[in-house]
Amino acid sequence: MHSIAEDLNQRLAPTVVGRTLSRFGQRIYFPKGIVAQSTEAKKSATTFNATVGIALSDGEPMILPTIQDNLPRLSPSEAIDYAPPGGDNKLRTLWKEEMLRKNPGILESKISLPAVVPGITSGISLAADLFIDENDGVVFTDLCWDNYPLIFETRNQARCCTFAPFTSHGEFNIQGMSEAILKAAHSGKVVLILNFPHNPTGYTPTKDEAKALAEALVAIAETGLQLVVMCDDAYFGLFYEEEAYRQSIFTLLYNAHENLLAIKIDGATKEDYVWGFRVGFLTFGSFGLKEDHFDALNQKVLGAIRTTISSSSRVGQTLLYKELSSLVYHGIKVKYAKVLEERFKTVKKILETRETGKSLKPLPFNSGYFMTFELERGSSEELRKHLLRTEGIGTIALQERYLRIAYSSVDNRDLKALYGTIFQAADQLFGV
Ligand SMILES: Cc1ncc(COP(=O)(O)O)c(C=O)c1O
Repeated sequence: MHSIAEDLNQRLAPTVVGRTLSRFGQRIYFPKGIVAQSTEAKKSATTFNATVGIALSDGEPMILPTIQDNLPRLSPSEAIDYAPPGGDNKLRTLWKEEMLRKNPGILESKISLPAVVPGITSGISLAADLFIDENDGVVFTDLCWDNYPLIFETRNQARCCTFAPFTSHGEFNIQGMSEAILKAAHSGKVVLILNFPHNPTGYTPTKDEAKALAEALVAIAETGLQLVVMCDDAYFGLFYEEEAYRQSIFTLLYNAHENLLAIKIDGATKEDYVWGFRVGFLTFGSFGLKEDHFDALNQKVLGAIRTTISSSSRVGQTLLYKELSSLVYHGIKVKYAKVLEERFKTVKKILETRETGKSLKPLPFNSGYFMTFELERGSSEELRKHLLRTEGIGTIALQERYLRIAYSSVDNRDLKALYGTIFQAADQLFGV
């Protein structure tokens, strides 16, 4: 059990809460990870707050105009009526059409109708409830969104097995992934979670890497191991370099092998700049799955939804439907993505021409909201605390030696000052 959970249990032990908590209730805790560090930064990051996974402009979330315009105009049934457990059918259909447009490699009849869930986190958790038993093997990159271990290990009691995201040459570590899957294969089934663009590094595999990754998974499925691959596409669409594979990795997996089930977990959260809406989607595909199978699987998903969240937000679904069907939608989204791409290019230029901060090695990044430094000397938590307390700058420390910067939440004009201060602080603390 995690030491934070033990501490909470000790405090609750003399009370009726301590005497009645379930085993899950005893295991669960709130980690001192990204959200806790972000909360600390909200109070003290008076200069720049580069902790949060959202896109800000002049300190405000970047809202799409159609969403803003429609907010006061909704009818009561558009705003507050219950939505069906699997979500509004018009929205499910439109999200699927959009998915096919964005991922031309997907054949319409070979995937399920996306089910609406309250955000990607909920989609991952529901998929985990459906496919993970205690002690099953679950594989993900060791640098990852900190909710993965909490969901898979603490909540679902899986045996997690991680791999380094990059080889020593800075390529996606396909061999490490395959080895981790084989290590986790004790129950005859392995769940792998892939997340591109990746949190925290901001990396998406190149076209060649994506192809090789899919081939490696098919080769493993061919041995008889049952593979469930969750594709967490939270940051889908924010690709800034030509060689990045610009479709979801799901495209290469949904029809690849009868022993490989691909689950696409995506949503409006980051793709459509509506972080607090809580609208995500769960879509399934596997070689050989037919209409009747999709219908049965949909009933399973509905049961899982019914027993947890019952249904997702109606107002979020209505506004998203209006947004996706608006004539200006695509044009505006391209503009918003350009704002983030411009920041990406500025960061790349700063790193190419920097003179200080050489103890900070940027990990490969080409997409998404973030980039991560690996510290060649010193502790990232020490650097984070120094930046927050003496410079009013919020960053996220991960493990012992990684520092994540959410350049998505800092205006382009401020990036030079942000990075200059980080470099100076690293030099001052750990030597040039
Ligand atoms: C990799 C990854 N997946 C999922 C999420 C959460 O998405 P949602 O807010 O839709 O639950 C995040 C958000 O921070 C993330 O970084």
